[in-house]
Amino acid sequence: MFVDSHCHINFEGLVDRLPDVLDNMSSHAVTHALCVSVDLETLPSVLEIAAKHDNVYASVGVHPDYEDAKEPSVAELVELAQHPKVCAIGETGLDYYRLKGRSIADMEWQRERFRTHIRAAHQTGRPLIIHTRSSSEDTLRIMKEERAEVPGGVMHCFTETWDVAEQGLAQNFHISLSGIVTFKKALDVQEVARRVPIEQLLIETDSPYLAPVPYRGKPNEPAYVSYVGRFIAQLRDQTDEELARATTDNFFRLFKIARPAA
Ligand code: NI
Repeated sequence: MFVDSHCHINFEGLVDRLPDVLDNMSSHAVTHALCVSVDLETLPSVLEIAAKHDNVYASVGVHPDYEDAKEPSVAELVELAQHPKVCAIGETGLDYYRLKGRSIADMEWQRERFRTHIRAAHQTGRPLIIHTRSSSEDTLRIMKEERAEVPGGVMHCFTETWDVAEQGLAQNFHISLSGIVTFKKALDVQEVARRVPIEQLLIETDSPYLAPVPYRGKPNEPAYVSYVGRFIAQLRDQTDEELARATTDNFFRLFKIARPAA
């Protein structure tokens, strides 16, 4: 059995066919999914899905790409994280990919927002879900300055080099790989997939984005995390079952979710 450690099933294209999405999960032996929050405005839809479905969990956070979203305070994140299905803070982090004509110095608001999330993770003891794009140096630096290794967490949809992965791993972070690992040219990500210690590896879809081969370019959904898992198993020369068991164990341990009775 596989688990999807990061999806957005409250987004259009998935939420409107949710019964099918959940059915497809079970027919692909995908047992659980973590529905990740991107802003406070849409958080109620995340919490509603998680409250309704035993095998769906939630996070609380404001994504660095959502510039106009309501800015959360530490206290607000801590309060919202009290919901019984919330098991993580995020997604948070830095994204310098689309600077829209600005310089990195202009992105202080992102760095402040990131620090707010790390402080909320300290207070709640919940792990962080970190997004980093074209910003690994600042991401790792702020993680260090704010002692993110204490709550720990996951660097999700990882697309950086092994060097960056190593620094994240050393800070008590897991590495989560998405369908990108199945793309032909994703050689750096494939190297990371081979080298991450199995006890710090997670898999995800980040659906509705980034469908793995053989669905590349099509809408993605949590069921397809099984393709991500099988592809990585092959890269690592492990069986599908070994890879599934390890990444599922890691998921329940990191997010402190009680294992359902077998
Ligand atoms: Ni995401």
